[in-house]
Amino acid sequence: MASVKVECVVKESALIGEGPVWEESEQTLMFVDIAGQKIHRWSPSTNQIQSLETGGTVGFVVPRRSGGYVAGVGRSIVAVDWSTQMMTSLVAVDEDRTNNRLNDGKVDPIGRLLAGTMGKEEQPAVVQRQQGSLFSVNSDLSVTKHLSQLDISNGMDWSLDQKTFFYIDSLSLTVDAFDYDKNSGEIGNRRVVYRMEKGEGLPDGMTVDSDGCLWVACYNGGRVIKIDPVTGVRLQTVSLPVTKTTSCCFGGPDYSDLYVTSACLGLDQSGRRQQPLAGSTFRVTGLSVKGQPSNAFSG
Ligand code: BGC
Ligand code: CA
Repeated sequence: MASVKVECVVKESALIGEGPVWEESEQTLMFVDIAGQKIHRWSPSTNQIQSLETGGTVGFVVPRRSGGYVAGVGRSIVAVDWSTQMMTSLVAVDEDRTNNRLNDGKVDPIGRLLAGTMGKEEQPAVVQRQQGSLFSVNSDLSVTKHLSQLDISNGMDWSLDQKTFFYIDSLSLTVDAFDYDKNSGEIGNRRVVYRMEKGEGLPDGMTVDSDGCLWVACYNGGRVIKIDPVTGVRLQTVSLPVTKTTSCCFGGPDYSDLYVTSACLGLDQSGRRQQPLAGSTFRVTGLSVKGQPSNAFSG
């Protein structure tokens, strides 16, 4: 078996690096800096990074079928034209909760966008509780609320047969599953797939590999863990040289590289000295698994 290697590939020190998405057509990695209010696009082949300022917190960015991207800025879903750097608001959520902001978002296998919110964060991972909701945005831009009273709406992805939705509300310290009806977008029958163990920190972003296993970034845990969602068994742990690992996605020409984002916000001076790479993005190779292409928003 090839040996697992972790390298720091983007030394951009993001306050909260998040939401990595591999863009196949461009062979680039998109990711956001939530608190730094930026969307980044990094090319592994040229090692060039392009950035766009969002003028507000940005929870996620995903590709859009009609071109460009869709991002979650503040409480708005905005269309982003990368070439002109123009942003146009499409629809807003949580209009009665002005302290809330969008956090993770991901596109389901048929092109529907799922995005969650969270309440005001007093300090990293300390939020006003039960303020968040989980929404889906359909191609006609209609919005459906699926869950409310969430603490920190976070990682999501779908099983290979598209019948299960995996979901993380971080402060529950669990990775959950729901039955998923991809035609109606409805979710139900919530259950726990995995409970975080001592030292693993908070579950944050996640991605499903092409065998159907979950890769979960552990915030304050400095690792990514691989979970078999059928048995609930942790199959592998990959350690990173930073504690605030936030999210991950597979990418690269054949989807065999795991990209992992991280944060430095919340580290004090000594923490930053001990973790000079906090806020960087990492590439993990030699995992002997592959990921799947990301989905583009149909709206
Ligand atoms: C959020 C952060 C939060 C972290 C840990 C991230 O998805 O954007 O604000 O501190 O999760 O739960
Ligand atoms: Ca997250």
